[in-house]
Amino acid sequence: MFLKKPKTITIPKHLAIILDGNGRWAQARGLSRTQGHQVGIENIRKVALLCQSMGVKALSVYAFSTENWNRPKNEVEYLMTLPSEFEKKFSSDFEKYDIKVMFSGRKSKLTKENLEILDRITSLSKDRQGLILNICFDYGSYTEITEAVQTIATDVKNGIIEPQDITQEMITNHLYTKDLPPLDLLIRTSGELRLSNFLLWQAAYAEFYFTKVHWPAFGKTELLKAFESYTSRNRRFGAIKG
Ligand code: IPE
Ligand code: IPE
Ligand code: MG
Repeated sequence: MFLKKPKTITIPKHLAIILDGNGRWAQARGLSRTQGHQVGIENIRKVALLCQSMGVKALSVYAFSTENWNRPKNEVEYLMTLPSEFEKKFSSDFEKYDIKVMFSGRKSKLTKENLEILDRITSLSKDRQGLILNICFDYGSYTEITEAVQTIATDVKNGIIEPQDITQEMITNHLYTKDLPPLDLLIRTSGELRLSNFLLWQAAYAEFYFTKVHWPAFGKTELLKAFESYTSRNRRFGAIKG
């Protein structure tokens, strides 16, 4: 009997997901957008555990963008309960599986209560050795890069550095993602073919994978398809490789 040779799959070290389509998924089922978001949150937990079991080192998920404030008031109000939902729904599993949680995003618009929750989740999990789950909340690349430029400009003004000391590495090290490995693969669900202000700097040499599947329906089969596609890519980084 011949055994089928198992295919080796390259697992990205740092995977990012634009988890899109909660609303469309819900509307197609006669549910409210909020119900779509609820299933979407639960799916972050599931996909994080899957990624951990498959050997991904860091998973960045786009949970709320700096532009999502422009949605109807009741939807924004619901989305602002995400930090407490994460704490309630994720804490015990993440402790069990040694998952470290961090948040990337602007701090100035969030309520004191939400900032306290985010701080609590982050500091409780800071020494864990498993998957790093980077939840991007009130995140936008324009803001991230602008904040980095402001900090660096202040160092120039104070005479700590000269303008010519500013390097690509220095900018990278001023982004929220400074402690994460370089971005390898970026997945967007739900059929849109755009970045929507997500990880613009970090995605310079990332691979992209787009699927029509809505985020609440995205699971192991889709993740494996994305990894298979990633495995087949020839990442040249501008050089010439076979
Ligand atoms: C993604 O789903 C979640 C957030 C942006 C918060 P959407 O809410 O964007 O769902 P669609 O794109 O309207 O279907
Ligand atoms: C991107 O999705 C933001 C998040 C997934 C949090 P959107 O649904 O907000 O993006 P657009 O409006 O389709 O570009
Ligand atoms: Mg959307």
